[in-house]
Parts: sequence; structure tokens; C-alpha cells
Amino acid sequence: MAQILAGRGHADVTLIDIVEGLPQGKALDQAESLPWVRSSATITGTNNWDDTADSDVVVITSGVARKPGMTREDLLGTNAGIVRAVVSEAAKRSPNAVLVIFANPMDAMCHVALEASGFPKERVVGQGGMLDTARYRTFIAMETGASVKDVSAWVLGGHTEATMVPIVSNATVGGVPLTQLLSEEKVKVVVARAQRGGAEIVDLLKTGSAFVAPAVATIEMVEAILLDERRILPCAAYLEGQYGVDGGYVGVPLRLGAGGIQEIFEIALSEDETAAMKVAGEAVKELVAATPKG
Ligand code: 2OP
Repeated sequence: MAQILAGRGHADVTLIDIVEGLPQGKALDQAESLPWVRSSATITGTNNWDDTADSDVVVITSGVARKPGMTREDLLGTNAGIVRAVVSEAAKRSPNAVLVIFANPMDAMCHVALEASGFPKERVVGQGGMLDTARYRTFIAMETGASVKDVSAWVLGGHTEATMVPIVSNATVGGVPLTQLLSEEKVKVVVARAQRGGAEIVDLLKTGSAFVAPAVATIEMVEAILLDERRILPCAAYLEGQYGVDGGYVGVPLRLGAGGIQEIFEIALSEDETAAMKVAGEAVKELVAATPKG
């Protein structure tokens, strides 16, 4: 994420980790790629939170990743403690930052980050739907044989297999409804594959989780904020009644720009999709209730 982000030239990046030498070594290696990438951005590594002071955006990727057979929810106890500690250090040094949360189970970690930072809800946004949407679009392109460039489809809801809501009712390829291009059965296959997208990678790699697609998905959000692009993207936001969810982080279409979440959009969905959004809201609230308190 750091390398691609810095390579695009819009952000100076600071990597922080508790392991001595690791962020410094990674940052130096990545910085040494930039002359050939032709970017004037900088990448630095540190173990000292003071070096992160006054960041505009802080991406929280801390915590452990899944191993085969684990769900994202299995990471709850371990990652909640890490995210709480990391967010409170980051928030102290960068009180005006937007926090982009991408530690799993992501939706629940947004709640932890919101509480630990004390930031307004507009400045704590979760990355999940961006990645899930990219996977959904990829699988639709594969199934239809179309270019991924022409696929317009969204994954809303939660970033867990059980709560992800790949939206079929408004999915199109070049303006042609997905349901016209694929049989009902094939649509179900694509939806199920999107919901298991993360697990498919974990099963293949055996020792780790996905990296590149999650990185790029997050970078799109970071740049939208830094450059005030006011993009409408599928990200997790704290809902207060939208989609029938009150007081829970759920993936929705929202406008992302300077200051974080600028507007949340409530769009028409099918009956099943609307019901699934409510389920996602209930599920994240249950996870929040089960999160060990610091
Ligand atoms: C994924 O879906 C890591 O949750 C991330 O691959």
C-alpha cells in the first residue's frame, strides 16, 4: 500500500510498526524504487509515534490476518486490543486526521477506532466494500467475458462472508443489467464467489491473506480524501437510521473527500438486499457487544 501510494505521487508516507528495523527497512527499500517510478513522494519508516504527527490520513492495517479455516470474526479479540492501542496513539499525534480502518473484523474495528480516537464519525471510515466491490466486478467480468472497465456493481453491507451484500438489482455491464447477461444460477455463483473472495485467497496462499487488491482499494479512499475528489464509493460508515441500521458500521455508498465522509446515500435496493443490510447492521452490533473492552 505504501509503495503504490507513494508511487502515485500524491502522498508522503510514514510506515510505523513495533518491530525494530522492519518499517525502516521496508520504507528504505520502497523509497529506493521511487526514482524509477518517477515519484517525488517520500516513504519513511519508524517505531516512534511522534514521527507520524500531523498526518492527514491514517490507515490502520494493524493486527493479525486470517489463516486457513479462520473467519474474520475469529480475529476479534486479538485485533481489538491492537487497534485500540494504535488508534489512540495515532489520534493523539494527528488530531485532525481521517482514519481509514482496515483491520479485521473491519466493521467492528471501526467501532473500536471511533471510541479510541474520540473523532467525529465522519472521520472514521472503514475499508471493506472497496475490496469486495473490486472482487465482485472482477468475477462479473470473468463470467460475462466483458472488460472489467465496463462493470458497474457494488458490494455493500459488512466485510464478513455472512454479511456482505453484493448488489444485483442495479449491477450493470456497459449499461446492460447483469441479470440480462447471466442466468440466475450464474449470478448466484458470482455473488457467492464475491462473498468468499477473501477466503479464496487465504485457501490458495495457505500462509497469508490478500495484499495487493486490499492495498489498491484502500489507496483509492486515501486519495479521495487527500485530493478532495468527492468520490462516491462503497465504504463502511456509522449509520444512524439509514438502511434500517441505527448505531452500527455498515458498508454504504458515500461521498468521500476532504474531512472524510461528506454524505451518505440511501439507494433503492431489492427486498432481499434491504433485509441483508439490516442483518449486516445487527451482526456488527453483536460483534461490538462481544468485543473485549480495553
Ligand atoms: C480480505 O478480504 C484481508 O479482509 C481482507 O482479503
